[in-house]
Amino acid sequence: MNILAPSILSADFANLGDAVRTIDMAGAGYIHIDVMDGIFVPSISFGMPVIKSLRKCTDKIFDVHLMITDPDRYLADFKEAGADIITVHAEATSHLDRTISAIQEMGCKAAVSVNPATSLSSIEYVLDKLDTVLVMTVNPGFGGQKYIDYCTGKIKDLRHMIDRRGLKTDIQVDGGITLDNVQTVLDAGANIIVSGSAVFKGDADKNVKEFMKLLNK
Ligand code: DX5
Ligand code: ZN
Repeated sequence: MNILAPSILSADFANLGDAVRTIDMAGAGYIHIDVMDGIFVPSISFGMPVIKSLRKCTDKIFDVHLMITDPDRYLADFKEAGADIITVHAEATSHLDRTISAIQEMGCKAAVSVNPATSLSSIEYVLDKLDTVLVMTVNPGFGGQKYIDYCTGKIKDLRHMIDRRGLKTDIQVDGGITLDNVQTVLDAGANIIVSGSAVFKGDADKNVKEFMKLLNK
């Protein structure tokens, strides 16, 4: 079962509640929530209060992607705001194993993200305890960027690593995924698809349904 996780970063922030309800009703699996601190990535998005407000709009899983330095400082706050899955970047924390354990001990699922240039060796030893690995397919920080082609090989390498160990770890991909290239990442082995601009540009209801057709083929 493949899952679509629309990123609300590309939604109209003046009508975020409506945007979340639309993608929920259209069949999105997760709501992908991008938190940026202006340090780990160049941009600043939003934080806990916004997530807390959105929690009232839907029962869907909140997939909170923390693009922040030293995420341990805020894990409990994001859990309290309504996060179900918390993703941290391998590049943003000094003690990755401790961060993963802290997320899981709170009762959230733990995911680790790797930037395009970061080797999969950075998650090699913690893979068995992870729920999800997020392969960034753009340099994080902004929506609407172009998919980086060499990431396809990385998704395939991760799929082999997971299968070789007989794990059930999810592979999530994020950045530049459109209706035109989603098949490529599915074929490479991804099963959770994040998409921002390709969902919210135009008719989000229709776009989610089009994605779901391809994801459930
Ligand atoms: C990028 C974010 C993504 C972004 C995806 O830094 O993590 O989730 O919103 O947007 P698109 O699909 O437009 O690349
Ligand atoms: Zn994201």
